[in-house]
Amino acid sequence: MTNPELSTTLDRPACERIDAEDPLRDFRDEFILPPDTIYLDGNSLGPRTKGAAERAQEVIEDEWGTGLIRSWNSAGWFDLPATLGEKVAGIVGGGAGSTVVTDTTSINLFKAASAALKMQAADSPDRRVILTQRENFPSDIYMLQGLAKQLGNGYEVRLVDDAEVTAGFPNTMTAEVALVVLTHVNYRTGRLFDMDSTTSAIHAGGALVIWDLCHSAGALEIDLAGSGADMAIGCTYKFLNGGPGSPAFIWVSEALQNRFTQPLSGWWGHAKPFEMSPDYAPAEGIRRYLTGTQGIISMSVAELGLDIFNRVDMSAVRTKSLQLSDLFIDLVESRLADHPVEIVTPREHSHRGSQVSITHPEGFAIMSALIERGIIGDYREPEVLRFGLTPLYIGFTEVWDTVEALRDILDDRTWDAPQHKVRGAVT
Ligand SMILES: Cc1ncc(COP(=O)(O)O)c(C=O)c1O
Repeated sequence: MTNPELSTTLDRPACERIDAEDPLRDFRDEFILPPDTIYLDGNSLGPRTKGAAERAQEVIEDEWGTGLIRSWNSAGWFDLPATLGEKVAGIVGGGAGSTVVTDTTSINLFKAASAALKMQAADSPDRRVILTQRENFPSDIYMLQGLAKQLGNGYEVRLVDDAEVTAGFPNTMTAEVALVVLTHVNYRTGRLFDMDSTTSAIHAGGALVIWDLCHSAGALEIDLAGSGADMAIGCTYKFLNGGPGSPAFIWVSEALQNRFTQPLSGWWGHAKPFEMSPDYAPAEGIRRYLTGTQGIISMSVAELGLDIFNRVDMSAVRTKSLQLSDLFIDLVESRLADHPVEIVTPREHSHRGSQVSITHPEGFAIMSALIERGIIGDYREPEVLRFGLTPLYIGFTEVWDTVEALRDILDDRTWDAPQHKVRGAVT
């Protein structure tokens, strides 16, 4: 079904040769994927890490089964949010003592945004506007809307277009803006925003910034502390391979950590939780961003993914990620030119995360047909097929095979079958 006239400068044997020489190729053994599967959804749910089942078994049988309650101390359970936080900090350039792994991204956003608004209320009480991307992941927008409603008193969320963010907020950064919440890489299009210049523009306008790193932690090099950012949140279940529903993280810059407490002031964030005092006294430092008891099995399994990324050279990951997405874009342009396919991911490296998203009016059915062939990406409204490119277990040959499979499906209209029109609760 392939048309040789449409081939790009690379062919499949060339892809195989590049894969054979890939300096990251040994990392493939760190992950367990089903046979005959090309997994291009690590930007949504990373695959199982080698040893995850054994680690869960160990926690359940030994630490829980035998250690029982002693394991809060003897197995380090109580310290896991901080232990894992240090590992996340190593991946996102957070610095020591800056990060805890806990709760969900949505909940951590609520905590971070509340604390940021409280700081602003003390210094600049007239600043009551929160800016965020119109195209942000909806949960971030919903959490901010909920917080603004809870606060009342003129607090409001304003949505801004991606172009306004990239331009440094020329039209929206008014003296009313207290806080800007930005997702570093757009979940749908894969657009990457420049953390350093955007943070500077926000600070120049007198506002604080929270970065959501869900689609960039483990995908590219990040220097949170160096960027001057105020706070960050993100999940561990996508590029960091923590497992379904694994806990999220929250990072707060050293300068801001002790300035205010977050509103979910549960006992895990207390300075002396086992004194059982009826009065809340926040812990010094990042621990005050904890709330309550954590899912220890999930947290223990998530550590394996973080350990892998603490051994990886993130600049090598980024280099390969861009090479993979360049190839993907190149092949889509040359091999799918006969079809109404559009690439919505930016071509410029400086604006591209670690995914390629394309649109087609029959996107949902096409993705369903692709998954039937063992090539797993996902679909997001409207019309977007997303392909996550995760350099530790995806190679050039898989990119080649994916675009060829897409070509077959489009040429043969395989997607136009009743089974590919049925939608589950999760797309
Ligand atoms: C950018 C972004 N922010 C927030 C969330 C919400 O995360 P959670 O469900 O862990 O609260 C997601 C989930 O996919 C996301 O992609």
